[in-house]
Amino acid sequence: MSGVKLRGCGHCVPARVVTNDDLARRMDTSDAWISSRTGIRSRHICGEETQAQLCTEAARMALERAGVRPEEIGVCLVATMTPESLMPSTACALQKALGLAQDTVCFDMNAACTGFVYALHTAECLLAASPRRFALVVGGDAMSRIVDWSDRSTCILFGDGAGAAVVEYRPEWPSVGAVLGCDGDSELLYAAGPGSGKTPRIAMEGTRVFKFAVETVSRCIAQVLARTGTAQEDVRWFVLHQANARIIDLAARRCGIGADRLYVNLSQYGNTSAASIPLALSEMQEKGLLHSGDRMVLVGFGGGLTWGGALLDMA
Ligand code: COA
Repeated sequence: MSGVKLRGCGHCVPARVVTNDDLARRMDTSDAWISSRTGIRSRHICGEETQAQLCTEAARMALERAGVRPEEIGVCLVATMTPESLMPSTACALQKALGLAQDTVCFDMNAACTGFVYALHTAECLLAASPRRFALVVGGDAMSRIVDWSDRSTCILFGDGAGAAVVEYRPEWPSVGAVLGCDGDSELLYAAGPGSGKTPRIAMEGTRVFKFAVETVSRCIAQVLARTGTAQEDVRWFVLHQANARIIDLAARRCGIGADRLYVNLSQYGNTSAASIPLALSEMQEKGLLHSGDRMVLVGFGGGLTWGGALLDMA
């Protein structure tokens, strides 16, 4: 099997911070309710910034930290459900802004909050057929543009941001062993698109999504370990979609994973959808928590319903 490893990460969030107390001034909620139910204390919300700008800055940082030049990139994927423009895609905007070569494969993909894991797997497959060794895998969402600000049970969960990873492909490296899936029959999480003629607004059955998430994360972790033949104790970090601290706690407890192997930053950012995993990876790199050879299990879940897990090694 051949596969990718992580070279470097970057992230970018809007300047404006909205705390739970700020929300409590606008709607019937409280810091105590939000933080005890979700672990979220604040989130960044776009003002002038656009989703494409956040992705560009995150990608720039990832290239710099990876020590990879734009012309070495063969594949540029952006996972998003809130692109600034439907066309050109955000990935095309990155090609221009970063000066990627014109034969770079550039496109956006939408697997909601699972987008980054889907994109990582896709990048690995595409690099196997590319003359270049590196891919930019970006997750960026401006969820504030599509949340229903009159629905206090969903709008308090989300934030805006972008995260990016530069991955390197080598034929002799193992695959990330992605486990991806979808249940299109479910309507637990929904947002209309432009073709529907309706205003895009997120609607969700919170309690049922919560249950789905805990079960899915535990199952994906087990499947990724089995598929890659990895012992759980050999994994340094479990980087799980940052939707709710209670989901992470419950899933980790089910799998027997201690807090010292979890990275959790949602108190500051809320659920940033496709950005959540690469944003966490970028902060971890910034804090010096990622070392060459570290093995990480990544798990995403979200609208679709979709889910995905992968084993990513630090190069
Ligand atoms: N502030 C105060 N009260 C709130 C509130 C808010 N922001 N939102 C809901 N409530 C109220 C409800 O109206 C309900 O009141 P009632 O009992 O008088 O009817 C009460 O709190 C409990 O609501 P409930 O929905 O049962 O709460 P919960 O414990 O299930 O928590 C979520 C709600 C949304 C935090 C939780 O279900 C969740 O996190 N689900 C997963 C969502 C998710 O991660 N989605 C994205 C996946 S990618």
